[in-house]
Amino acid sequence: MTETETHGHDTVMVVDFGAQYAKLIARRVREARVRSEIVGADVTPQALARPDVRALILSGGPASVNVDAAPGIDPGIYDLGLPILGICYGHQLIARDLGGRVSSTGTGEYGPAQLTVSASDSLLFEDMPDEMTVWMSHYDSVVDVPASFRPTARTDGSTVAAMESRGRDIHGVQFHPEVVHTPWGQEILKRYLFKVAACRPTWTPTSIIEEQVEAVRGQVGATGRVLCALSGGVDSAVAAALVHKAVGDRLTCVFVDHGLLRKDEAEQVEETFVRSLEIDFVHVKAQDRFQDQLAGVTDPEAKRKIIGETFIRVFEEVARDHEDAHFLVQGTLYPDVIESGPKGAAKIKSHHNVGGLPDDMDVELVEPLRDLFKDEVRAVGTELGLPEEIVWRQPFPGPGLAVRIIGEITPERLSILRDADAIVREELHRAGLDREIWQAFAVLPGIRSVGVMGDERTYGYPIIVRAVTSDDAMTADWARLPHDLLGRVSSRIINEVPGVNRVAYDISPKPPATIEWE
Ligand code: XMP
Repeated sequence: MTETETHGHDTVMVVDFGAQYAKLIARRVREARVRSEIVGADVTPQALARPDVRALILSGGPASVNVDAAPGIDPGIYDLGLPILGICYGHQLIARDLGGRVSSTGTGEYGPAQLTVSASDSLLFEDMPDEMTVWMSHYDSVVDVPASFRPTARTDGSTVAAMESRGRDIHGVQFHPEVVHTPWGQEILKRYLFKVAACRPTWTPTSIIEEQVEAVRGQVGATGRVLCALSGGVDSAVAAALVHKAVGDRLTCVFVDHGLLRKDEAEQVEETFVRSLEIDFVHVKAQDRFQDQLAGVTDPEAKRKIIGETFIRVFEEVARDHEDAHFLVQGTLYPDVIESGPKGAAKIKSHHNVGGLPDDMDVELVEPLRDLFKDEVRAVGTELGLPEEIVWRQPFPGPGLAVRIIGEITPERLSILRDADAIVREELHRAGLDREIWQAFAVLPGIRSVGVMGDERTYGYPIIVRAVTSDDAMTADWARLPHDLLGRVSSRIINEVPGVNRVAYDISPKPPATIEWE
């Protein structure tokens, strides 16, 4: 990457030693308004010798530095003269590589620990309390610091809970400053970024927008149409708004309504794009076509496949009407990029959030969000003037409500689910829980049960309410919603949605369950 591509921002490279820690660290660095990138442990000193790279962070990881297969870094990296912060595994790696000693003391430390700062003149702990709670998760410990290092903090379980080599700007912390359970963690990280590494906090939504607008203009040139498939989700909406800022009315957004959206969703998307943003908008009302294809289909994978393929056909038909379109906007995010390999390897995925796009289309991808995490996308969307309902929308699967109706999808069953789902989301919103809950929705199973309403026996559908907390949808836990909220949701669904006589709450974590039911 050249200096032009990083637009003069300082960059912190986070070296990934596994287990999701690196992503969280990279996000925390960006929350401090410093650009960060994640690289693998095999990164070379040459790759790090870029003018914008100001500092390194070695992440935590699940291995022990004392086993043969332990991941390490090229020793030449220590000679680059860059500031280095080692966290957990990274802390132990620095100790081992520079001549200290790491060993298993027979007891690990897991969870909260009381940290005592022994060197209050350490830049990392400047103007902070001498005692603080930190989050630990380690079995091995640094027992001897390398020569020219000094321990700067300890806990009952770690004599070297932090260390530093002031002369070389190398620091190590055994605890995890990146997790919320270390209340002073972000402050410690900021001391490192600003006091030790002298980074400049320039990474802001405004700067991201300005740079991406410029980059998109450079990529698409002066003529031709740019297409964007809108899913109604936050990523494609923000990508579209950003590209619109760059190319104005050369952008055409295509919104394929497969009839499997939530209540009022299609209208909300149209309202936002046509009336608020005045973007050229093609609303393809393909509900009947999807319904015909799905009639009688009950197998979950068959449903997904039909929806994906029908989506592609519909999108292709619209694209054929826009022969001058050589570019296709996609809302790919940084986590997708890290997971799918280096730049240039990007391909249109079959499991995409708008259901999969044609892979034989002769178009170049425009991906203005490929450097961003979800929270940054939301900040950029807000800055671009997108309404809160779009920016704070929960993740929603491409195949829509189809994967929340077990068994056949009929107009009647769709209507039941849509009404019940709207009640779940409305009550959650009223309770002020929107942003704490990752996803909350209703599921309609393919069974019915006996109930009684008035003096009448009923034989109706149950609705299953699913609400989960999560950071990235890889794992999730069922949300401990207040009982009175669950009670309100239940009585409203039973009273207001004809055909439903029972409500159940799904209390399964992922794994072993998944978030969606199909
Ligand atoms: P699961 O059910 O696998 O879902 O725990 C994880 C996350 O992915 C969403 N999801 C999808 N998103 N296309 C998408 O764009 C899909 O086909 C799809 N299926 C599931 C789901 O809502 C959750 O956030």
